[in-house]
Amino acid sequence: MKVGILGSGDVAKTLAGGFLRHGHEVKLGTRAPEKLAEWAGQNPKGQIGGFSDTANFGDLIVLAVKGTAAVDALRAAGTANLARKPVIDATNPIADAPPANGVLKFFTTHDDSLMERLQREFPEARFVKAFNSVGAACMVNPQFKAGKPTMFICGNDDTAKKIATGILDQFGWEVADMGQAGAARAIEPLCMLWCIPGFLRNDWVHAFKLLTNP
Ligand SMILES: NC(=O)c1ccc[n+]([C@@H]2O[C@H](COP(=O)([O-])OP(=O)(O)OC[C@H]3O[C@@H](n4cnc5c(N)ncnc54)[C@H](OP(=O)(O)O)[C@@H]3O)[C@@H](O)[C@H]2O)c1
Repeated sequence: MKVGILGSGDVAKTLAGGFLRHGHEVKLGTRAPEKLAEWAGQNPKGQIGGFSDTANFGDLIVLAVKGTAAVDALRAAGTANLARKPVIDATNPIADAPPANGVLKFFTTHDDSLMERLQREFPEARFVKAFNSVGAACMVNPQFKAGKPTMFICGNDDTAKKIATGILDQFGWEVADMGQAGAARAIEPLCMLWCIPGFLRNDWVHAFKLLTNP
């Protein structure tokens, strides 16, 4: 697929590397292309652009910007460039405040989520929450002795979730579909839980697994 990734941070670069490794075409979108000079040198097949031409390039969009900037980044990407496209949303609504006893603070409430806000603001885009509940270093084909970890996803569009599920399968994940966009109210806070061992014990290598009986 042609994948337009909005972002220049660890998540954007890591997922871009994964998409390239799995044979996809990738463009990274940023306001500051100079930030990606080193990445470009290491990934000659990867392309770099602004938010708008990156969204225009992608048949699949990945949103990997700071949560507080997600709406602005999508506005810069352009509503028309997002319309009818699957948008894998890796963002978390982390507030600009330090964690308390290892627990991050969010700018959303339990009765709302960042992805629902994005879906309301860009109704023609087909958002799928994914990749938000694990650190960047474990996003692409993570290796755990207990086997494949679980990625919790949600979104209103079944076709978009099918595309995201195919990508997650390539990237070495089991997928647990938690339903409609409103489930992001539960999936986004998994990021808070995931980060606690990191902040308390500097342990950043773990992932969630949903155990079920057949
Ligand atoms: N880091 C992780 O391990 C991890 C894991 C799971 C989920 N997440 C989530 O994934 C997202 C990306 O995380 P990250 O650590 O890779 O990077 P980040 O530092 O949270 O975000 C960097 C990106 O945000 C963009 N940005 C910042 N302010 C902006 C503004 N005012 N307008 C438009 N864009 C703006 C930057 O754009 P420019 O390129 O133009 O500067 C850059 O691409 C976040 O929502 C984070 O919560 C992170």
